[in-house]
Amino acid sequence: MDLERVRTTANRAADAAGWILREKLGNLSGIDYKSAFNIVTEADKASEAEVIQTIREVFPKHRILGEESGTLDADSAEDRWIIDPLDGTTNFAHSYPFFCVSIAYEHKGEVLFGLVFNPVNNERFQAEKGAGAFLNGQQIIASATETLDASLLATGFPPDTKNAKHSNIPEFQYLTDMCHGVRRDGSAALDLCYVACGRLDGFWEFKLNAWDVAAGALIIREAGGIVTCPSGCDFEMESGHILASNGIIHEELKRELNKVSEHARMLAK
Ligand code: IPD
Ligand code: CA
Ligand code: CA
Repeated sequence: MDLERVRTTANRAADAAGWILREKLGNLSGIDYKSAFNIVTEADKASEAEVIQTIREVFPKHRILGEESGTLDADSAEDRWIIDPLDGTTNFAHSYPFFCVSIAYEHKGEVLFGLVFNPVNNERFQAEKGAGAFLNGQQIIASATETLDASLLATGFPPDTKNAKHSNIPEFQYLTDMCHGVRRDGSAALDLCYVACGRLDGFWEFKLNAWDVAAGALIIREAGGIVTCPSGCDFEMESGHILASNGIIHEELKRELNKVSEHARMLAK
């Protein structure tokens, strides 16, 4: 597979999506609800349509998984694009400027390229398998923080924490007392990239979707960090449960996270 074409196409798609998101920020005609607190906006839909069209023009035979469109089948079972057209929709809907577009390319079940673009500050994180991770062209590496008590972490929550089977609130509370702090920034894809470039030392969340993590997980690994499931087993993108770190604090973070509840362990399998 020609990854050069993949990279060029993904970047063109991210640029086009970025224009749409910037234009619609603060200018939404309204918001819709997928469920009680799960928002979707015209920006999510327009961004995804643009990304899909850009990919389809170059790779008409590739499958696409987009958050808003689901799976779009095509001839090639080996090639798949995984798109979150707007990660951080709740932030976006409130004009809180922390969101991104996330685009990953997978070949034979392995993510080979990932791109996460924040159009507000023009930060573009990208990685190609085996070739390192980059922020606006500069190579990035995960932090050198050695212990949990010196770490800054992030996590996230399902849209409706009150009714969620696993709210992640006990884990959040417990770990907040063990480190410099636990941020809840509202964009899992950017959180992962922040671990990759050393602004954060670790991140965990339960019940994410493949489009939230496909690009970010590759970017962390290519920056020298580690990605597993929360109990330490191999990370499976489709499970949605993720623990990511600079690698150095991984064992300690995993141990403390798993002390919190049986529930977390059960879900992480
Ligand atoms: C959400 C964000 C958020 C995470 C949620 C996701 P969306 O994605 O990544 O940080 O906590 O679990 O659903 O809905 O804004 O694309
Ligand atoms: Ca998302
Ligand atoms: Ca989204």
